[in-house]
Amino acid sequence: MDHFQLIDGALHCEGVPLETIADAVGTPTYVYSAATMDRHAAVMQAAVAGAGAGEPLVAYAVKANPNAHVLARLGAAGLGADVVSIGEYRRARAAGIAPDRIVFSGVGKTAGEMAEALSGGLFQFNVESMEEARTLSAVAAAQGRVAPMGFRINPDVSAGTHAKITTGTADNKFGVPAADATAFYAEAAGLPGLAVHGITVHIGSQLTSLAPLEAAFERVGELIAALRAQGNDIRIADLGGGLGVPHGPGQPEPPGPEAYGEMVRRVTAGWNARLLFEPGRLIVGNAGVLLTRVVRVKPGARSPWLIVDAGMNDLMRPALYDAYHRIEAVRPSGMNQVVNVVGPVCETGDTFTMNREMDRVEEGDLIVFRTAGAYGATLSNGYNSRPLAAEVLVDGDKWALIRRRIDPDALAGVDEVAWR
Ligand code: LLP
Repeated sequence: MDHFQLIDGALHCEGVPLETIADAVGTPTYVYSAATMDRHAAVMQAAVAGAGAGEPLVAYAVKANPNAHVLARLGAAGLGADVVSIGEYRRARAAGIAPDRIVFSGVGKTAGEMAEALSGGLFQFNVESMEEARTLSAVAAAQGRVAPMGFRINPDVSAGTHAKITTGTADNKFGVPAADATAFYAEAAGLPGLAVHGITVHIGSQLTSLAPLEAAFERVGELIAALRAQGNDIRIADLGGGLGVPHGPGQPEPPGPEAYGEMVRRVTAGWNARLLFEPGRLIVGNAGVLLTRVVRVKPGARSPWLIVDAGMNDLMRPALYDAYHRIEAVRPSGMNQVVNVVGPVCETGDTFTMNREMDRVEEGDLIVFRTAGAYGATLSNGYNSRPLAAEVLVDGDKWALIRRRIDPDALAGVDEVAWR
C-alpha cells in the first residue's frame, strides 16, 4: 500500500497535490511519501520480529535510495543500513544511524574503505573472497582492532529475475562458492584481527517467488551446521534483500513481507543465530514517483510519441532492465489512448514504453512513473548535459525539497585546468 491517490480528480502524494510540487520546483522531479516509507519499514520489521536469536536487524540497502533525508527518516523508523561504499557508510552515519547497525557489503571494498569503516565502527563486514578477508585482516591488525565479519556465500541458485540483477549463480561475481566455505572459514579463523561470526547471502533483486530464496537459505543452514561442526562460532546470519514489489496490474505479484517472514521462520528454526535483512526496494520502491511533464506529442507510425521531460538519464530502469513502470496522468481525463512514452535523450533506448494503453494526456500535462522510489534518482546521470532531477519529500500535507536540481555545470569538471 502507498499514499499516492486521486483527490478531487488530481493525483496527490499524501495530502499534497503533485501539481503544487511541479509548479514550485519544475519537472522532472522525484517525489517520495514519508508515510509510505514508514509503513514499509514497520511492515518489514513486524514480518521478521522474533525470528532467530535476539532481535533481527533490518539494515536498509542504502543503494536503493541514498538521499540523506530518506536515510534519516528510515533510521528514525528503526532501520539500520547495508552499505557498499565508504560514501554510503558516511551518509548512513551522517543520517544518525548507529555504527552497530551498519553492515558493509560489496565485492570491491578497498583497504582504505575498510580502514575508515573499521575505525568508525560497524556491525560487520560481509566479505566476498578469501583475498578480501586477508586484506581485512591486515587492515585490522595495523589498527590493533578486531574486524567483525562473515563470508557472503554464493549458493549457485537462479533467482528467476532479470539477468542483470541476478547475483547468486556460479557465473556471478558475488560471494564465495559454497564448496569453498569450510576451507575459507577455517583459514579466516586463524588470521589476526578477524572475528568470524557471520554468514551472509543475497541472490538478486525484484524476486517474485520465495522458492529461490528458500533454496539459498537452506544452503546457508547446511553451512552453519558444517561450520559449527568444524569449530567456527557462527552467531549471525544475514539473509540479504531482494524481495520484489508490485508494479501494478498485469505484472508479476511478489509474495508479501508476511509470507517472506513465515518462510524465514520455518527455514531458520533451530539455527540459533541472530538474523539480519537487507531490504532496499521493498522499503522505498513504491514510496516514490517520478513526476514529469509532456513536452510534445508527435505522430508515430503505429502509436503517437509522448515525449516527456524525463529521460533515460533520470530513470534508467526501463533502458537497463526492460523494467515496467506504471504511468499515470496527474489529472486523468477518464479517456485512454495508446502511446509510446519516450524522453528527450538522443538514444532509441530512451524509451519508457511502446504501444501502451494509458490515460489520455496532451502537451503540457503532468504524468508520473510509479514505483520510482528505489533505483531511480540514485541511478541518474547527466547524459546529454541534462540536470539531475530534483527530489521532494512529502510528509502529510507538507513537503520539502530534499535535493535541488543539479545543474550540468556542477558536474562539468574543474574550474581551472592546470597542465603538469
Ligand atoms: N543486499 C545486497 C548485498 C545487494 O546487492 C542488494 C541489491 C540489496 C541488499 C538490496 O536488494 P533489494 O531488496 O533492493 O532488491 N538497480 C537494480 C537493482 C540492483 C540491486 C543491487 N543489489 C534495479 O533497478 O532493479
